[in-house]
Amino acid sequence: METTTPVTATDQAMQLEWHYGAHNYHPIPAVLTRGEGVYVWDVEEKRYFDFLSAYSAVSQGHCHPRIINAMIQQAQRLTLTSRAFYNDKTGLCEKYLCEFFGFDKALIMNSGAEGGETALKLTRKWAYLVKGIPQNEAKVVFAAGNFWGRTLAAISSSTDPSSTNDFGPLLPGYVIIPYNDLTALEETFKRDPNIAGFMVEPIQGEAGVVVPHDGYLKGVRDLCTQYNVLFIADEVQTGIGRTGKRIACDHESVKPDLLVLGKALSGGTMPVSAVLTSDEVMLTIKPGEHGSTYGGNPLACVVTMEALQVVLDEKLAENAESMGKIFRDRMTALSQKTELVKSVRGKGLLNAIVITERPDLGGETAWEICLKLKENGLLTKPTHGDKIRFAPPLVINEDQMHEACDIIEKTILAF
Ligand SMILES: Cc1ncc(COP(=O)(O)O)c(C=O)c1O
Repeated sequence: METTTPVTATDQAMQLEWHYGAHNYHPIPAVLTRGEGVYVWDVEEKRYFDFLSAYSAVSQGHCHPRIINAMIQQAQRLTLTSRAFYNDKTGLCEKYLCEFFGFDKALIMNSGAEGGETALKLTRKWAYLVKGIPQNEAKVVFAAGNFWGRTLAAISSSTDPSSTNDFGPLLPGYVIIPYNDLTALEETFKRDPNIAGFMVEPIQGEAGVVVPHDGYLKGVRDLCTQYNVLFIADEVQTGIGRTGKRIACDHESVKPDLLVLGKALSGGTMPVSAVLTSDEVMLTIKPGEHGSTYGGNPLACVVTMEALQVVLDEKLAENAESMGKIFRDRMTALSQKTELVKSVRGKGLLNAIVITERPDLGGETAWEICLKLKENGLLTKPTHGDKIRFAPPLVINEDQMHEACDIIEKTILAF
């Protein structure tokens, strides 16, 4: 009699995606079905620590009861009106955002990429209407290694060939300089009077948690002021408590001209992004010149206010700061026990370890480590080959952090 291996629920789900979905991701083979706080469960009921938090979006923890409750209440009342009409929540959320982050005005969108795009459009408008740059000549400076999404505008600033290959032609008007290099920034500003903005991540997340030197953000702020260039902080990943402060710019007490937020704005429940800026910049865009059907919808607005209030009430930035220290201390101690861990870096709960490539493991050592971490009950993913990012929900407590570090230590020492 012919025997067939039973197909597991995991295999079934993965095969469905493979068969019917685009092959634009290469996921770790865990099929998740529910989450709570720092944990997620797969379809076989195996529990994992989530140390990726959906690329830093689920900062308040999976299915935070307050956020879910606010979402349910509002979903039963009114979800979407479009901005053709007013609703009774958008203004409240804009006020909340402005007061929370200290800006005049907010513009709410959906994905992080749309937030970045909105910031760029505002910068170009400001360049022509306020700074007086000749039409179609405005340029925006970016740092090599930047990542702000997958739209054509976003990939046009990318220095990663896998983002841009065969997607050309790309958008003009971008200047790329090295990250963490104030001299290059000043030379660029000096050379070209048509520079309108500098868009930068205070810590480069996707590039592998690249932390600039102390004083970099302060230097950026000073140069932007000196040369009348808008400082656009892309805090889609670093914002809202992730690095141990309200936003990462707070580490150097600098205020950008435009602040782009996303991901954790909704606590991982729905796409919400926002751009915050001054009246001078925001009011350059007039009715009919920018928008989005879902942008600023009442459901998103209620969820956003609750998600931010949770960060305050539960002191999640402060927790990120102290839990991050424990994590880096444990990983630094681990790096002294094995050459596999080349270095440890990060701030708050946005951290990464750099892995030494071991040719005997088939050339993808970080990937192999992540597969073993999964077997041992912790989920994360490599970024840019040799780096493994660790970004758990900010609600993680000390016992959970030590247990997770025990898993990482045991896994890596077994190689
Ligand atoms: C710094 C930064 N900006 C923007 C984005 C894009 O956000 P989204 O994927 O929601 O478009 C990301 C996504 O990882 C990001 O890390």
